[in-house]
Amino acid sequence: MPDQLTGTPALDAVNAALATVQDPEINRPLPELGMVKDVQIEADGTVRVEVYLTVAGCPMRQTITDRVTEAVSGVPGVTAVQVGLDVMSDEQRAELRRTVRGDAADPVIPFSQPGSLTRVYAVASGKGGVGKSSVTVNLAAALAKRGLSVGVVDADIYGHSVPRMLGVEDKPTQVDNMIMPPQAFGVKVISIGMFTPGNTPVVWRGPMLHRALQQFLADVWWGDLDVLLLDLPPGTGDVAISIAQLLPNAEILVVTTPQLAAAEVAERAGAIATQTHQQVVGVIENMSWLELPDGSRMEVFGSGGGQTVSDALTRTLGARVPLLGQIPLDTRVREAGDAGAPVVLAEPGSPAAQAMSAVAEGLAVRQRGLSGMSLGLTPVRH
Ligand SMILES: Nc1ncnc2c1ncn2[C@@H]1O[C@H](COP(=O)(O)OP(=O)(O)O)[C@@H](O)[C@H]1O
Ligand SMILES: [Mg+2]
Repeated sequence: MPDQLTGTPALDAVNAALATVQDPEINRPLPELGMVKDVQIEADGTVRVEVYLTVAGCPMRQTITDRVTEAVSGVPGVTAVQVGLDVMSDEQRAELRRTVRGDAADPVIPFSQPGSLTRVYAVASGKGGVGKSSVTVNLAAALAKRGLSVGVVDADIYGHSVPRMLGVEDKPTQVDNMIMPPQAFGVKVISIGMFTPGNTPVVWRGPMLHRALQQFLADVWWGDLDVLLLDLPPGTGDVAISIAQLLPNAEILVVTTPQLAAAEVAERAGAIATQTHQQVVGVIENMSWLELPDGSRMEVFGSGGGQTVSDALTRTLGARVPLLGQIPLDTRVREAGDAGAPVVLAEPGSPAAQAMSAVAEGLAVRQRGLSGMSLGLTPVRH
């Protein structure tokens, strides 16, 4: 409330306004994060707010300044808002990390906590080269375009290709123990390739891989994600098992080509869900046909693979595993991937892009299972 006598804004009211301002990356109120350094109120109604940024050159500085200005401007009696920026000390950053993370020895994976609203999809395939990464980045880009908050973990340790396909060249920034993921097209991206120099192969074995994946999931500052997509290596190896342990709620999306030989191995990759008690969301058939200039379809890799996997997994898992879509072969898919701009954005009208967008649409409107979720509603008795 403004001071009744002088009309200057009240400190309490300014603080209350600041408490409504969220840090854009951490999604918690600035005061809670120790990011408000000082507030000064002048007699003429000017309010000066000093804000601590987590790191110098924080890419969110303008957003934070704008949010603070907007919130404080609304306080009665405020005539002007000035925002000053400072940078946290190491000690303050460590304190912030404790605030956000707690003191737990093991970093916590937010997506596997009860009540997490993030839908986690692990994109799996039997063999490599079927378009798993292409599908992953295009689904991610399409979902982000729809306004969802999306993250991608490139967990294909030997064949990591997601950063290139999304045109991400930045390395993650590190704040204390936390890793800030680079973004492209509104998608936050972390890849094992970002942590290895040049094009060096990763020669990690099970336990190291497990630890690396745990870090990707727990130490990376994802913020509140609606969807997390994981690009798994082909097959049913260590990574798939680690993901099942680290993210038991991850649901599997199987990518296959129409070829029956590919379908058989894809089915195996999906059937791992019986052992890990995961759900298979559905099957995506890629490279389904090539449209010829006369409009006819050439089935380069045969036909029926997607449906075969869908039927077989439905039988094995005892729950319906639908064929979510068929994506035609199209040179634009590859070109867009090479250029670092997913085809759903670069050539949204192409049939391949439309097929991928339709799958993304289906995933976006899909409700998560409600078991074990707190609805945050108070029942009303009639
Ligand atoms: N529908 C498609 N049409 C044309 N090329 C495609 C299509 N899907 C994938 N590709 C290309 O095929 C190659 C393998 O795809 P990729 O997504 O890397 O497969 P994976 O991740 O399964 O190994 C890439 O060069 C990619 O650009
Ligand atoms: Mg790949």
